[in-house]
Amino acid sequence: MSDFTNTSEYEEKFDPRLYLESYFHLGSGSLADDFLRFVLENLNKTFKSGAVKGSTLIDIGTAPSIYQLLSACENFDEIIVTSHTKRELKELQKWLNNEPDAFDWSSIVKHVCELEGNRVGQKEKEEKLRGKIKQALMCDVGKSNPLAPQEVPKADCLVTTVCLEAACKSYESYGKALKNLCNLLKPKGHLLMAGDLGCNYYEVGSEKVFSLPVNEKFLKNAISDSGFEIVQLLSFGKPEDATFEASDHEGFYFVHAQKI
Ligand SMILES: C[S@@+](CC[C@H](N)C(=O)[O-])C[C@H]1O[C@@H](n2cnc3c(N)ncnc32)[C@H](O)[C@@H]1O
Repeated sequence: MSDFTNTSEYEEKFDPRLYLESYFHLGSGSLADDFLRFVLENLNKTFKSGAVKGSTLIDIGTAPSIYQLLSACENFDEIIVTSHTKRELKELQKWLNNEPDAFDWSSIVKHVCELEGNRVGQKEKEEKLRGKIKQALMCDVGKSNPLAPQEVPKADCLVTTVCLEAACKSYESYGKALKNLCNLLKPKGHLLMAGDLGCNYYEVGSEKVFSLPVNEKFLKNAISDSGFEIVQLLSFGKPEDATFEASDHEGFYFVHAQKI
């Protein structure tokens, strides 16, 4: 078995639009509602503190999603988004180009604007983020330069959400991927990472998609062994009575770490 998820698995089985429609209408009662509230609040707090800012931020495995960048765009001059498959990039480009059939992120943009005290309107927020995204590249966390063949200057911050658990088939490869991400950062650069705890799969339509089940102890060790110092590791346990057939996750995590 390969150490990383086969690219064709995502190219063929993962329908990026169905993924967005299934999980990214905040308030619809989908299993992602709690995750979105948890991660958006923590990203907002982290950026609002002013501790994480700079010229360039790279989001690893952006795919069709933008929720993870809505607060980030206030603190960086330039954002680079990345996709592992062309199909995901195509869906993201619809939003980047403001095309009429682009996914409607309004429930999530509204929530982030509220978290930020409604300083800007929702349309303005989306335009601001679009304006900050200067490049859309392909990525593979299994490569020592995950953006190869592109070379980009080292970044001040990396964001990655629900990506390494999807990309890495073993705990060893998860560690390798973290080291590969570390190569993209400046010394003292920030890593902001969020995802599911204890998750073996999530569903996108009729497809069951692989996820590597991680816990806090594993994350602490893997991040510390990959050239980072942990600033904060937060977790959220799924309510005991919550049952979701679309995934077997036990909760979520949010990590802020700094390259040593
Ligand atoms: C659950 S999606 C998360 C997408 C997005 N970051 C989000 O938060 O909605 C998992 C992502 O992992 C990506 N992925 C799988 N293998 C990868 C690899 N080797 N390198 C980078 N990304 C990979 C998939 O293409 C997919 O977009």
